[in-house]
Amino acid sequence: MLSDRLVTAINDQINYEMYSANIYFAMQAYCDSLDLDGFANFFKVQIEEENFHTSKFYNFLNQMDARINIGAIEAPSNDYGSILEAFKEALNHEKKVTKRIYNLMNIATEERDHATMSLLKWFIDEQVEEEDTFNKLIKKLERIGDNAAALYMLDTELQARTFVPPTTSNAAN
Ligand SMILES: [Fe+2]
Ligand SMILES: [Fe+2]
Repeated sequence: MLSDRLVTAINDQINYEMYSANIYFAMQAYCDSLDLDGFANFFKVQIEEENFHTSKFYNFLNQMDARINIGAIEAPSNDYGSILEAFKEALNHEKKVTKRIYNLMNIATEERDHATMSLLKWFIDEQVEEEDTFNKLIKKLERIGDNAAALYMLDTELQARTFVPPTTSNAAN
C-alpha cells in the first residue's frame, strides 16, 4: 500500500504530465501558425508521449488501489519569439520534469517503496531521452540560424516522426 505522501506526490505528477502535454499543444499551435507542419507534427507526437506518461502514473495508482485526483491545470504560454525559443523553453520544462522525477524517487527511497522506485526508474531513463531529443534539435536550429531552406529541410524530416509506445513489460502500464 502506498503512503498518503506518495499518493499525493504521484497525483501532483499526473497533473504535471497533463500540463506538459498542454505546453506541447501550445507549441504545436505556434508551429501551425507558421505553417511548419513538420515541427507541428513533432509536438503532436510529444503530446502523445506526455499522455503516455500520464497513463503510466494513472495505471500505477489504480493498480496500487490508490485514489486518483484530477485537478486544475495551469495555462501554458501561447507566445514564442521563434521556433528556437520554443525548443529552448521545452528543454527548460523537461529539466524541471527531471527534477520532479528525482524528487519523487527521493520520497519513494525514503519510504523504501520498491514498487514506486521500479516505476520511477523507467521515468528517469525516459527523461534522459526527453532532454537529449530537445538538446539535439536546439543545436540543429542554432546551426540553421536564418537559413530558410535548411529550416524547411528539418521541417520535412520532423514530418516523419511517429509515436511508438514502448514495448517492455514495465512500460505496458
Ligand atoms: Fe512527461
Ligand atoms: Fe516530456
